[in-house]
Amino acid sequence: MYRCPACGRGVSDDALVWRCACGSHLNYEGARPLRRAEIVSDERSLWRYEAGLPLGRSDAVAYFGEGLTPLLPGLREAEPFLFKLESVLPSGSFKDRGSAVLVNALVRLGVQEVVEDSSGNAGASLACYAARAGIDCEVYTPESTSPSKLAQIVAHGARLVRIPGPRDETARAVQEAATRRFYASHNWQPLFVEGVKTLGFELWEQLGLRAPEGIVLPVGLGSALLGCFLAFRGLQLAGEVDRLPRLYAVQAAACAPIHAAFQAGADDIAPVECGRSIAEGVATSRPIRRREILAALRDSGGGTAVADDEEIVAAGRDLAAQGLYVEPTAALAYAAARKLLESGTLRPDRANVVVLTGSGLKQGR
Ligand SMILES: Cc1ncc(COP(=O)(O)O)c(C=O)c1O
Ligand SMILES: [Zn+2]
Repeated sequence: MYRCPACGRGVSDDALVWRCACGSHLNYEGARPLRRAEIVSDERSLWRYEAGLPLGRSDAVAYFGEGLTPLLPGLREAEPFLFKLESVLPSGSFKDRGSAVLVNALVRLGVQEVVEDSSGNAGASLACYAARAGIDCEVYTPESTSPSKLAQIVAHGARLVRIPGPRDETARAVQEAATRRFYASHNWQPLFVEGVKTLGFELWEQLGLRAPEGIVLPVGLGSALLGCFLAFRGLQLAGEVDRLPRLYAVQAAACAPIHAAFQAGADDIAPVECGRSIAEGVATSRPIRRREILAALRDSGGGTAVADDEEIVAAGRDLAAQGLYVEPTAALAYAAARKLLESGTLRPDRANVVVLTGSGLKQGR
C-alpha cells in the first residue's frame, strides 16, 4: 500500500501511479522490518536484505549482483572517516540501489515504456536497468549535465531529451512526456527510496550490526538520506539497533534550501535562488520530500553543512590522492565532513561514514 502524507489517502501499490490524486508524493507503507536472522548471507548482493524490501531476489529480472560496496577508512590520520564507495555500483552511482527495486517492480507490473528526469546519474542508472530488463526508456536531463553521463544514457539505448535551464526546468518539462509513458521518476516513485534503504542495511552489517555515529551525505532530493533514515528507523523499531545514526545533509553553497531551512529551525523550506555549482547532482531548489528530509535530520540528531566549488575541488583532489576517484557531487560530502570535524560537530573517536555517491569517471567534460 502507498500512503499520501498530505491527505492520508491510501493507494494500492499495484496501481500505476506516481503521485496522489491531491498532487502530493506517496510513500510506501508496506515495509517490513529487517532482522539480522533474515539476512540471506550467501546472496552476495543487496538482495540479501530482501526480507526488508518490497521485492525479493526471485523477482529481480534485472540483476547485477549489485551492492555490498566497500566501506574503507581514509588514509589521513587526522580525518578518521569511513568511506562508503557507492561509485562501484553497476552504473557508477548509489542510484542503482533504487533502480534495482523500482525497475524490477515495474517489470512485474507489466510496464514496458518509462520516462524519467534526472541530473544525470539516476537517468544513467534507469537506462542501465531498463536495458537489462528489456524495457524502453526515455530520459530528460538539463543541458548542462556532464557529457559522460549523457553518453552512458545513450549507450544503454535510452532516448535522451536535453532541456535548457536549471534542473527544476527539466522536472517541469518531463511532466508532458509522463502522460504518454510511465513516469518512473526516482524522485516521485515511493519504491526508489525503498531500494536505497539497502545503503543503510549494508552500513549496519559492515559495522558489526551497529549504527555508525554519523552519516554524511550529499542531498538534493534526499533519496540517499531518506534511504538511510528509513533503514535505521526500521532496524530501531525491530530492536536491532538502539539509536539512529546522526544524519548530516550536505549541499552546495550555491544551492542550499535544506541547509537554510534546517539552520532556521523551519519544518519546510523557503524559496531560494539556486546558483550554479560543480556539484550538479544536488542542484535542486525545492525537493519533493523536503519536510521528511528536515524531520529525519531533526529526529536523528544530525545537521547540515555546505561547501563551495573551491572546497569541493580540493576535497576531490584529496580523495583521489587516497585512491578514491569520485565526481564533484560526491566530493562535496567529504568537503563538508572535514568542516564538521573541524568545528567539533563530528568527533574523531566515533565511526562517521562519508558516502561517496558517484564515480569520478562521470565528470568528463
Ligand atoms: C552523485 C550524486 N550524489 C548525490 C545525489 C543526491 O541524491 P538525492 O537527489 O536523492 O538527494 C545525486 C543526485 O543526482 C548524485 O548524482
Ligand atoms: Zn493526497
